[in-house]
Amino acid sequence: MVNKVTVVGAGNVGATCAHEVARMDICKEVVVVDVKDGVSQGKGLDMWQTAPILGFNTRITGSTNDYSKTAGSDIVVITAGLPRKPGMSRDDLISINAGIVKEVTENIMKYNENPIIIVVSNPLDVMTYAAFLASGLKSNRVMGMAGILDTARYCAFIADELGTSPELVKAQLMGGHGDTMVPLPRLTTVSGIPVTELIGKEKLDAIVERTKNGGGEIVSLMGTSAWYAPGLSAAIMVQAIAKDTKAILPVCASLNGEYGYKDLHLGVPVVLGKEGVEKVVELSLDAEEKSLLDASALHVKKIMKVLDDMNMFSKKYGSDTL
Ligand code: NAI
Ligand code: 2OP
Repeated sequence: MVNKVTVVGAGNVGATCAHEVARMDICKEVVVVDVKDGVSQGKGLDMWQTAPILGFNTRITGSTNDYSKTAGSDIVVITAGLPRKPGMSRDDLISINAGIVKEVTENIMKYNENPIIIVVSNPLDVMTYAAFLASGLKSNRVMGMAGILDTARYCAFIADELGTSPELVKAQLMGGHGDTMVPLPRLTTVSGIPVTELIGKEKLDAIVERTKNGGGEIVSLMGTSAWYAPGLSAAIMVQAIAKDTKAILPVCASLNGEYGYKDLHLGVPVVLGKEGVEKVVELSLDAEEKSLLDASALHVKKIMKVLDDMNMFSKKYGSDTL
């Protein structure tokens, strides 16, 4: 249990995340901030009015861009930014969203000494890097949400293929949030049985490809990006931190030598607890898995360099090579 969770961005993902966190009864208060006048207050009030029906106690309040209301936040979730439209990649959002994430993070740091920040805004890995640079926080306290969502999509597709219950499918997925993500069929099980025993290679490869395009599939159907699974995934990270569960979850975390990468935020399994990312779990990857992860890491490094070239921050860790 913590005192306060702030969610910045009262749009589709932010509002969903705020409501899910409130329903979990893991903090006394959820504060929702948005630049649009009235939206966070209106949605905050609407969500608070579900409390008598659902039976939770978390007080939800909305605040239009008044960051003084966020003071004393233990955890901050940043969802502010533009979502994808059809034909856009997550990386196309970089120039607009980097400015938003920087501004939001600086505002948060004016009123909060040592929060844990979870970034959701896209392009995810690079926005996590931007929040890390803007916050000045220790690297274990700034992380991004993507892996829980991408893994959930992968598990849902496997459950569909087998006609079985989704909760029986357990998996790990690594890498950046985008086409270079690395689902790991070798480490995927259904009721403890390796998925490779249950689904043939061709079908499994098709599921991996569909997972990589999982966000785009939804964008092309409804013209904007998903929010139910993304909002819940971010809330699950808040829960692990607030309850200090030490859950092992796929998270975009700062790597400082793990997997052979430095100064990079990338999706890896981590132990999540009250200190944030308490440990990066280093799996033994086979040669093919490692080469896919290298390609993903390199892609993220290159997009970091695009951000570096905008000269928003004095520190620069992007690169054209790993
Ligand atoms: P949305 O458009 O519904 O909501 C975004 C909200 O941010 C809006 O209410 C807007 O007013 C607010 N905002 C914009 N600038 C702001 C600022 N400077 N300060 C405070 N609030 C500000 O978008 P949605 O669907 O909620 O997506 C939010 C972000 O999350 C997008 O960048 C999207 O690409 C990303 N996303 C990431 C996922 C992931 O797995 N990491 C999954 C789904 C979405
Ligand atoms: C998603 O994966 C677009 O990142 C967003 O749904």
